Amino acid sequence: MPDLVLDYANCLSDRIGDEGLDPAHLEASLSAVAEHGEELDAMRAAGETAYRDLPFDPARSAHTKAIRRLVDDCAGTYDTLIVLGIGGSALGNIALQNALNPVTYNLLPDGIRPGPRLFVVDNVDPMLLGDILDFAETVDPGLSRTLVNVISKSGETAETAAQFITMRDVLINSLGDNAHRNIIAITDPSRGTMRSIVDAEGYRNLPVPDGVGGRFSVLSPVGLFSAAMCGIDIEALLDGAASMDAPCSRRDMTSNPAAMLAFLLIEFTKRGKPNHVLMPYCNALYSLADWYRQIWAESLGKQVDRQGNEVFAGATPIKALGTTDQHSQVQLYREGPNDKVIGFVDVRKLPRDLTIPTGLDVENLKYLQGVSFTTLLAAEKRATEYALVESKRPNFTITFPTLDAYYVGQFIALWEIATSYAGLMLNINAYDQPAVELGKQATFGLMGRPGYEEFNTKVADTLGPSDRVIPRNG
Ligand code: PA5
Repeated sequence: MPDLVLDYANCLSDRIGDEGLDPAHLEASLSAVAEHGEELDAMRAAGETAYRDLPFDPARSAHTKAIRRLVDDCAGTYDTLIVLGIGGSALGNIALQNALNPVTYNLLPDGIRPGPRLFVVDNVDPMLLGDILDFAETVDPGLSRTLVNVISKSGETAETAAQFITMRDVLINSLGDNAHRNIIAITDPSRGTMRSIVDAEGYRNLPVPDGVGGRFSVLSPVGLFSAAMCGIDIEALLDGAASMDAPCSRRDMTSNPAAMLAFLLIEFTKRGKPNHVLMPYCNALYSLADWYRQIWAESLGKQVDRQGNEVFAGATPIKALGTTDQHSQVQLYREGPNDKVIGFVDVRKLPRDLTIPTGLDVENLKYLQGVSFTTLLAAEKRATEYALVESKRPNFTITFPTLDAYYVGQFIALWEIATSYAGLMLNINAYDQPAVELGKQATFGLMGRPGYEEFNTKVADTLGPSDRVIPRNG
């Protein structure tokens, strides 16, 4: 099978002059990148990058067998699946569904849809959960055909806990003693608050594997269960991810797409281009750009390096959509500050095409007639690439041979491994998220959780009354 292709020619000085990287500099950096490869291998051997083992046995068989058993157990029983989770416990689920099922999936009639309708509730906006709940109760008044999949490694996350408590209550009110049958939990296999609830209430459950952090967990039961429920080929996803492992382990950066991606983006960050846009030319891949935003931001945005020195490392990931954002963001990308790297994602052969009909006798629009949409899409992407190069804006392209589960698996593995390389290049810990903790603790304090009272005072002191508001007496 051909692989995803990374084309980085538009990042080099022979295309974009001084704004690009000198090819000689790439050559000079080869040995340093090879050393990062060795360190990454050592980390893998020490179990510090457990996400990389997910597409391989024994982890793979253990998880896919358990998932398949549960999916078979649920077959024909549910028309609606509501996933409750946030961050790494939701973004992958959304990305897989949007990439690999049609945009109309939820609207397809029962019997034609390959699985239940899927809603992923990844916020505590009451309109979101409320509207989905109203819908579920309308199409399934007793909720017997509605399955809730709560995903939380810790079980402590306030957003997911609030959603879970609400949905559990709704199910108990509808189904009484059978409510537990309509809840499937994905959580830590041995510890944590959600694990205790699972054990006490007897939910069917799957593990968040040990050592796999939220944002690296999409190829574990976290992302794969809902995907399999909705008819996505999870074996192909894992095959694709597995096939990316060897290329991304090569010591030579010029044949290692993950190392090259990380090197380019980190080099540009150091040279005043810390804004990294990912711009698929395919609506189905747009949610994968959201998934990328999390893995790149939360993994690399760190105050201190691995020795504890203050470094304020990181880059700002941005998502955009071609062609839509050609009429919005591209003005900024070409003429605004030259502080970005634009990563295009395109698909050589989309699974479907449409031809623009002939027959409209308008001279100015004849060039479009009889032409396929994919030809137009490809021309628009190439034209934008050209326009960016003309403005000396670095950009690269990742090309999918076609859009299917295998290549989505490759794409996920590529960015996960690139994130690991980038962490080493920045000399930071890519696997923790200490800055997220303070906001979580302050929320606990504001919500009255025992043990966190001090944050109530701290928040009040920091955000005390102010007259810097407009209108002042409004
Ligand atoms: O990447 C991460 O670690 C986070 O985004 C977590 O996935 C998120 O905070 C949810 O955590 P949990 O699964 O414990 O509820």
